Amino acid sequence: MNLQVATGAIRAITGDALVVTATRKGDNVQLSTAASEIDALFEGLLTERSTDGEFKAGSGELLTLYPQGRLKVKRVLVVGLGKQENITTQTLRRNSAIAARHLQKSGAHTITLALSWDGIDNAQAAQAQVEGALLGLYNFRNYQSKEQNAAVNTLSVLASQDQEQAIEQAIRTAEALAAGTNFARDLVNEPPNVLTPEEMAKRAQAMAQRVGLECEIFEKEKIEQLGMGGLLAVSQGSVLPPRFIVLRHRGSDSGKQLTLVGKGITFDTGGISLKPAADMDKMKGDMGGAAAVLGAMHAIGTLKPAINVTALVPTCENMPSGSSYHPGDIVRISNGKTIEINNTDAEGRLILADALSYAVKEGLSPIVDLATLTGAMVVALGGINTGIFSNDKELTDAIIAAGKLAGEKYWPMPMDEEYGELIKSEIADIKQTGGRQAGSITAAKILEHFVGDSKWAHLDIAGSSFSDKKSYQEQGATGVGVRTLVNLAHDLAK
Ligand code: BES
Ligand code: ZN
Ligand code: ZN
Repeated sequence: MNLQVATGAIRAITGDALVVTATRKGDNVQLSTAASEIDALFEGLLTERSTDGEFKAGSGELLTLYPQGRLKVKRVLVVGLGKQENITTQTLRRNSAIAARHLQKSGAHTITLALSWDGIDNAQAAQAQVEGALLGLYNFRNYQSKEQNAAVNTLSVLASQDQEQAIEQAIRTAEALAAGTNFARDLVNEPPNVLTPEEMAKRAQAMAQRVGLECEIFEKEKIEQLGMGGLLAVSQGSVLPPRFIVLRHRGSDSGKQLTLVGKGITFDTGGISLKPAADMDKMKGDMGGAAAVLGAMHAIGTLKPAINVTALVPTCENMPSGSSYHPGDIVRISNGKTIEINNTDAEGRLILADALSYAVKEGLSPIVDLATLTGAMVVALGGINTGIFSNDKELTDAIIAAGKLAGEKYWPMPMDEEYGELIKSEIADIKQTGGRQAGSITAAKILEHFVGDSKWAHLDIAGSSFSDKKSYQEQGATGVGVRTLVNLAHDLAK
């Protein structure tokens, strides 16, 4: 994709389409500066369409104008941003995505974006609309034989000359954030016969090389040496060997750091505690946490914030077979603690326990882990909010703020000591699951046993990482977490 700043007059813009905005103020439509200019060139056509009530500037509402000689550009698309009091950068991101998708479907290749709102700084607006367009235009069609329509190949952002540099910078940031998000979406959307633990490691390694990160891949022998009993137990039912991926971005000599951990189950059948057949195919996405961490590292490698960031990704398959781990097994995690297995479908916490223990042993803090960990999270918050479970209020607040900037929502969940009662075991240090009550919290309480004194937050993305419905993005993987993590790294680098 060619991304650039356009600084000329509106009349000088060429290409297939120009996107401008209008907002809703009370019962009236208010045009942006660019839209007013268009309106004047069209002798008040836009004002007329609004007063007639044909165009109400509701969020996502579209109106197409054909210049017929008034402009060089072939089409003008007016997109509504909705009520003024509700407009945020996420409104621009969403509506840019809607506009870009609409234009791509109707054959546009070169688009100029002029989405703006008085309440949002121009550089932030530029970043949001480029992110939105790139996220909206994403699709996953690698496996369809049918010839695809030619895609949008050039996006320009309209800006005044004195702001050219700031806008250029914002576009580069947006490009990195969207590329990281779409990298994660590809990993989640890939089928499980392609994206095996080995393949994930290969892609991580290739990506690290491309953007300049250090990369180490631990194979089974090394995982055994490290005593990662959780990762070994879960993977032992599969013919595919596990991997443990370590990536490092070195951006600081002053000791600033952040560690990211992602659950990388490339397919979750449940193991001996087998899942029902319906919707089991969705469990190809059980590596959404790993994907988010790798996607964030893709962007972090590109943007190079002044902080050291370590990424840890344990990855394997959870399969039923003659060599699977059993309910009743006692598994020893690499920090020495034992877990009594009572449901082999609660595999994520076992592989995360080993990764968290590894981080603690390396003296790493703060740690943020992301995982499609529990079905109970989907029930509690659906796809709208991601649950945060943490031992540190400041880190929680920083993640929520980073998410807001990214257009991703997080909701803090309770971690009271009393929940720990539910995972007491008679024969091991802890029990793997605590039964039906508070399933997402007891899962987080298990993880808490492995974070030592490190500051830590666990993000359960089971509901938010995959969407069955088309929204402003294609259905499938959402890439949730990527942009939040990159924003968090920048925030902690300050
Ligand atoms: N990968 C699943 C959680 C999940 C469910 C993610 C739905 C996305 C959508 C996880 O490994 C799992 O199966 N958890 C069990 C835990 C239970 C056995 C305590 C669950 O949530 O049912
Ligand atoms: Zn499971
Ligand atoms: Zn799982």
